[in-house]
Amino acid sequence: MSHFALIVAATEELGIGVLNNLPWRIPKDMAFFKHATTVIPKDSQGQNAVIMGRVTWESIPSKFRPLDNRFNIVVSRNTSYDLKLAKAENTILVDSLEKAFEAVDPIQHPRTFVIGGAQMYNLAIQHANCSHILLTRIKSKIDCDTFFPKIDEDQFRLASHQELENYVQQSVPEGIQKHKELEYEFTLYLKK
Ligand SMILES: NC(=O)c1ccc[n+]([C@@H]2O[C@H](COP(=O)([O-])OP(=O)(O)OC[C@H]3O[C@@H](n4cnc5c(N)ncnc54)[C@H](OP(=O)(O)O)[C@@H]3O)[C@@H](O)[C@H]2O)c1
Repeated sequence: MSHFALIVAATEELGIGVLNNLPWRIPKDMAFFKHATTVIPKDSQGQNAVIMGRVTWESIPSKFRPLDNRFNIVVSRNTSYDLKLAKAENTILVDSLEKAFEAVDPIQHPRTFVIGGAQMYNLAIQHANCSHILLTRIKSKIDCDTFFPKIDEDQFRLASHQELENYVQQSVPEGIQKHKELEYEFTLYLKK
């Protein structure tokens, strides 16, 4: 299987969710998420794959499901879980993260992102093929009940801003950004 990335927004305490939802709404981070998970490397074809746990799937408003222009893979232990899709869309259900990776065709799906939530991140970050972590660091203190695992600095290094822009193939605002009272920063970690 190919390498894959995690993409997440987390507080300094690594909080990522509350009451099965995102604790914040940062339009520029949502736009970054959409671009980063959709853009494919030059000279490749197809659509990227996005892998998510069943709880994260349900947290996406139904009008935005499945995530467009991406191959959506939902992970649930319930093999008869109803994805409630109006028609057979670009979405499959699998009952393990390994099966999600097996469903990815490296030609048709040039990049693979694990997009949450905590249960999926916990499994995926330990995987040998986890090569990138796109982390939007939320600098403001926000109460969360769901957390991203600690990033092991022996295994991952903070990439330069140029490396981040090269990976997502667009310019990214550098340094601390502001949205209303929230401060945040786009970062990338790379497997050493
Ligand atoms: N800040 C961010 O960037 C970000 C991104 C994504 C999500 N989130 C937040 O994270 C929270 C959701 O995270 P979560 O950890 O509760 O849920 P999750 O990881 O999205 O989904 C958990 C579900 O995945 C399935 N699952 C987990 N391990 C499995 C395994 N080994 N094999 C097969 N299926 C497995 C189970 O589904 P079944 O119960 O159906 O079996 C489980 O209930 C929400 O608050 C969401 O908003 C934040």
